[in-house]
Amino acid sequence: MLKLLSLLRDGRFHSGEDLGTALGISRSAVWKQLQNLESELNLTIYKVRGRGYKLSEPLHLLDAQVILSDASHAPWPVFVHEEIDSTNAEGLRMAAQGQPTPFVVLAERQSAGRGRRGRQWISPFAENLYYSAVLRIEGGMRQLEGLSLVVGLVVMRVLSNLNVKHVGLKWPNDVLVADRKVAGILLELVGDPADVCHVVLGIGVNVNMQSTDQVDQPWTSMRCETGALVDRNHLVAMLSGELERELKRHQTHGFAAFQVEWEQAHLWQGRSVSLIAGASRVDGVVKGVDVHGGLRLDIDGKEKSFSGGELSLRLRDDS
Ligand code: BTN
Repeated sequence: MLKLLSLLRDGRFHSGEDLGTALGISRSAVWKQLQNLESELNLTIYKVRGRGYKLSEPLHLLDAQVILSDASHAPWPVFVHEEIDSTNAEGLRMAAQGQPTPFVVLAERQSAGRGRRGRQWISPFAENLYYSAVLRIEGGMRQLEGLSLVVGLVVMRVLSNLNVKHVGLKWPNDVLVADRKVAGILLELVGDPADVCHVVLGIGVNVNMQSTDQVDQPWTSMRCETGALVDRNHLVAMLSGELERELKRHQTHGFAAFQVEWEQAHLWQGRSVSLIAGASRVDGVVKGVDVHGGLRLDIDGKEKSFSGGELSLRLRDDS
């Protein structure tokens, strides 16, 4: 099926006969495979009598060679999968099997994409970016403090450099345009966080997706915001390049070096919020973040900091 897709990826018409000859199958088998492509990969294929078949638009697949030859790219090896359960899960498996770090895992689609707080990350074929960078951390807890916020800042900056306007952050690491999510970040860790561990920086970006009925929160994509098709290979190269630079800065100076810039990008500064952890909830006004990346809230005139991966932030009605 993917061989057929690679014949069609130029977005031009191909006759059923030519496709069948190239694949060594009958025209009716071509027809069957085309139907599978449409239903399984959610692609639109035009069928015109006398001309043949074409994709509704050219398909640009992820390509490790193209990424590595992009001037923006960090010298990190890239592993591309057509389909995987989760790029984070694969990154952790590869690290456990001794793959030297850092490295990047990408997929055209995920069958079990993981989001924060046990949620699913919807991962349609070839439309978005599912990116996991795996690092080895040797410096103990300090190297992890605020790391996920730094990743959010990097993603925001890259999107903004690629013409997405009004992109900002919501603590701890949602990347939003106004109140719609354009990217999410999930850090996962194995080993001893106080000593040596592997951390996977999982980044999901809504890139060229224009419609879906599967996402249960307000969302947008780079394409919806800019009106233009985005080159995902270049996006990967930019992300890795910017991550490499900023992770070095984080390693040397800690989150304190990012605190001011992070607060400037925070869309919910000064807003009245509820901070939710399971069944418990705290109401306050957002003051900013502390030097460790914790959220600073004003609660009845007293400032308190909060941190932890399971926390989520909601706007209060009176905000
Ligand atoms: C969130 O809930 O906001 C975090 C979403 C993180 C999704 C990305 S997609 C690439 C990587 N692999 C996963 O399974 N999850 C992360």
